[in-house]
Amino acid sequence: MTTLAVRGGLAFINGSFSQKDILIEDGVIASTSADAQKADETVYAPGCLVLPGLIDPHVHLREPGDTYKEDFRTGGRAAIAGGFTTVMDMPNNRLPTVTRERLDEKARLAREKAPCNVLFHFGGTDSNFAEVRKADPQSLKLYLGKTTGELMLHDPTALERHFANFHKDRPIVLHACGDSPDEAKDLERTYANIENCVSLAQKMQRRIHIAHASTGHELLLAKRWKGCTVEVAPHHLFLSKNDLERLGPYGKVYPQLRSEQMRIGLWKMLEGADCIATDHAPHTPEDKENGAAGYPGLETSVALMFDACAKGLLDRIWVAERMSGRVAGTFGLKGVGVLEKGCAGDVTIFDPKKEWSVDASEFQTKCKWSPFDGKALKGKVRTVIRGGKQLYVDNEFWD
Ligand code: DOR
Ligand code: ZN
Repeated sequence: MTTLAVRGGLAFINGSFSQKDILIEDGVIASTSADAQKADETVYAPGCLVLPGLIDPHVHLREPGDTYKEDFRTGGRAAIAGGFTTVMDMPNNRLPTVTRERLDEKARLAREKAPCNVLFHFGGTDSNFAEVRKADPQSLKLYLGKTTGELMLHDPTALERHFANFHKDRPIVLHACGDSPDEAKDLERTYANIENCVSLAQKMQRRIHIAHASTGHELLLAKRWKGCTVEVAPHHLFLSKNDLERLGPYGKVYPQLRSEQMRIGLWKMLEGADCIATDHAPHTPEDKENGAAGYPGLETSVALMFDACAKGLLDRIWVAERMSGRVAGTFGLKGVGVLEKGCAGDVTIFDPKKEWSVDASEFQTKCKWSPFDGKALKGKVRTVIRGGKQLYVDNEFWD
């Protein structure tokens, strides 16, 4: 038996932070209270937050199909460096993940290449109802507006059919935003999509999840149905239209960045958010110059969120929940997202005092730019443990 102890940190257990040691035996958490004196290996974490391995419910790792933008190895390393031991990959690959065969192939590649756990959202099309049943995925993603790639619903009856076809207690994730550069039109479309999905879900008593809410009103609409959860991405919290001049073609993203006033409106309703999701969507500089939408996010997300805590804008407990246990709860993931006996020995140690500034040229992702390049942040991922093994320590991978 091999044992690893994390000692002396502030551990996030049962919804609060307290001085507790974590003991991991053979990759599984064996205790969260005892003082773990006699482990084979001990990691000291004084002054640090000891978090469950973080979970990101929304990433685009691009494999197979667009591995020049990202692949499971580089995207998985970016996840680990960003404190995430579990990520959920989106289906909008060049050949979308809309058949069981493609899902199996993706899972095989991820198992071979990714240093973190990779789970998958399955894509819904106008007609793949039988494949959805065959693949029996954890989550189904429906695109009601344009995304990178071709995956999108066109037939207006397909939404209701998917709502009826897929497990009622597993979330259908909705990309509800419009794509019109005209903001008023984009918002009208986004709100109409969410209202329609929320009332349909309520009528059918089924679970849904709204991806990347970018305005307070979306949170308000989502909360009309208790079976609807919602995620928010850091870039919509920390960037606005005011950044577009600086970012040029690198500013394009779906949902688009909102006005400063709407960004503040999102903060006002933020209490309603269930998950923080990076929507890590890497593109090369050349693709960005040619109009690709999306930002990388894995290696800045948790630091941005805890930096906001350091500034008094958010509460640490609120953030920790929405990057771990609450994400697991939203997607029905078992044995991850909490520091509890019997759960995976996945632990993220975060130093809330470490000051650094974003330099994406040093990132693990293939995407060597970030909309946050140059930003000074307080708080950084120090050590990431997966299955009782230290994978990442002080900016280095222990391979
Ligand atoms: O900006 C975006 N990029 N929004 C999406 O919905 C998809 C993503 C991507 O895959 O590039
Ligand atoms: Zn996305």
